[in-house]
Amino acid sequence: IAHGRPQRAAPWWAAARERLLQQAQAGTPRYAYDLATVRARAAELVATTAVDHCYFAIKANPHADILRTVVEQGFGLECVSQGELDHVFATVPELSPRRVLFTPSFAPRREYEAAFARGVTVTIDNLEALQNWPELFRGREIWLRLDLGHGEGHHEKVRTGGIAAKFGLPTARLDAFVAAARALGVRITGLHAHLGSGIDDPRHWREVYAQLAGLADAVDTVETIDIGGGLPVAYMPDSPVFDLAAWRAGIEEIKQAYPRYRLAVEPGRYLVAEAGVLLLAVTQVVEKDGVRRIGADAGMNALMRPAMYEAWHGIHNLSRVDGATVSFDIVGPICETGDVLGRDRLLPSATAEGDVLLIADAGAYGMSMANTYNLRAMPAEDVLND
Ligand code: LLP
Repeated sequence: IAHGRPQRAAPWWAAARERLLQQAQAGTPRYAYDLATVRARAAELVATTAVDHCYFAIKANPHADILRTVVEQGFGLECVSQGELDHVFATVPELSPRRVLFTPSFAPRREYEAAFARGVTVTIDNLEALQNWPELFRGREIWLRLDLGHGEGHHEKVRTGGIAAKFGLPTARLDAFVAAARALGVRITGLHAHLGSGIDDPRHWREVYAQLAGLADAVDTVETIDIGGGLPVAYMPDSPVFDLAAWRAGIEEIKQAYPRYRLAVEPGRYLVAEAGVLLLAVTQVVEKDGVRRIGADAGMNALMRPAMYEAWHGIHNLSRVDGATVSFDIVGPICETGDVLGRDRLLPSATAEGDVLLIADAGAYGMSMANTYNLRAMPAEDVLND
């Protein structure tokens, strides 16, 4: 601890270098996940006494071993599509549907039918669904997702509240929603808000709870308040580490102020980002007009985050740890100018074809957003479990 702020520990992969180099021999691109890291992160959240229900947002990383690991730690699972629901029950068949949350956005009617048939908790986030599909919802219990009027998070594309966002019922329509629900015998047993991803301020979640609890009194049937996910990780060496103790203290305090409700959270990134690395092989090293570029055998096809959000990931040459360094841009093989994994990074000047590159903190929204653009193959995945 320096200056009383939490510090980031040495990453797990620093001690696993030989093993990762060996694994890369089996072919790149490939992701590697460290289950011990997932377990440690999950345990931190489960230990928060004010939290009654933890759901893992599987969109961050639906790998079967990761799902089993978080369920063993006491997590339920949050799904956003029928595909995710089917995957969850195929992977963890013993999981009670009570521990699964379905929180889709603009999903087709048949996916809500499938979710109700499975007996999972269903969240809806607009009045039109009730009006257009009364027979689907009549007599059901549902959770309602609200838009609290503002979005938060690391990039405008991941802010899920406010006028520009498609998610959530505006609070001004809450009364109309409650009236329509009553007319159909629909019980609103949960209020939900997820306002974005990668939110640095640990006070955010207590404010969301306070706002939802204030509204819940008017709804009358609410048992659970879900304050969403969005817990950040420190991607850059100088980014502040998330102050989990402050997060915890904030929600414990607010829960005491409104003790009537069970409290749920649904993080994705926090559990898996640091647990995953992406291994790539260097294809070509090229200098053009004074810019040195290292080419890798995958780029935005394997990891979209830098191209889509200008996200920063640490990049290391696993094959060469010593020697002089020089600035490089690291690019992929995709035919797009935006196919850049990192700009102006210091890497060994001797970096050459065949070296193995490690992209750090790639366990969240890495493989789950990978694609076959340019007809490139999907990355492989390995799991380390010791
Ligand atoms: N709950 C809901 C309703 C969500 O939509 C999400 C994420 C989560 C929970 C989990 O959020 P997390 O704890 O992972 O921040 N692809 C972007 C992130 C998109 C997040 C989408 N929704 C990225 O790579 O930064």
